[in-house]
Amino acid sequence: MKKDIKSIDDIQLLVDTFYDNAVKDPQLGHIFNDVAKVNWQHHLPIMYKFWASTLLGEVGYTGNPMDAHFRLNEKISLNHEAFNSWKNIFIATVDQFFEGPIANEAKKKAVSIADLMFYKIHNYNQSAGVNIGKVRRD
Ligand code: HEM
Repeated sequence: MKKDIKSIDDIQLLVDTFYDNAVKDPQLGHIFNDVAKVNWQHHLPIMYKFWASTLLGEVGYTGNPMDAHFRLNEKISLNHEAFNSWKNIFIATVDQFFEGPIANEAKKKAVSIADLMFYKIHNYNQSAGVNIGKVRRD
């Protein structure tokens, strides 16, 4: 019997495992490693706070995820395949360790934020005439 997401240790396990898988994914790996060149010591604590505030009601996350991804989308347009991989890896990671109401909430919120993010970015890219999937060189 798996347990539900209840503590900051659970959040850390979820986030750490999610990114371990995401950086190996063909759709996402190069975005994290080569385009964003993520500083993990900086990024992971932000993600612990984001998910602790979203799922456990803890204070501490003060960023703006939409802005962060619009900035990333200036470097590489974030397409449907990338968001699908993101959602699939997140759901699989939750299911690997957890079950219960908060685990369900985590999957629901992740999918709805991802869908909203994709919708906004996709509309922006279409109106800006961006070539989906191409790295910008300018
Ligand atoms: C194609 C899908 C996605 C990709 C490739 C992606 C990639 C990234 C990257 C590269 C960063 C910046 C890391 C840095 O600081 O250098 C970031 C930040 C972040 N991402 Fe995503 N992401 C995706 C989807 C999502 C979704 C669906 C969510 C939420 C459910 C999310 C939540 C966040 C948050 C909270 C931050 C931190 C923003 C801040 O600085 O406050 N991401 N993401």
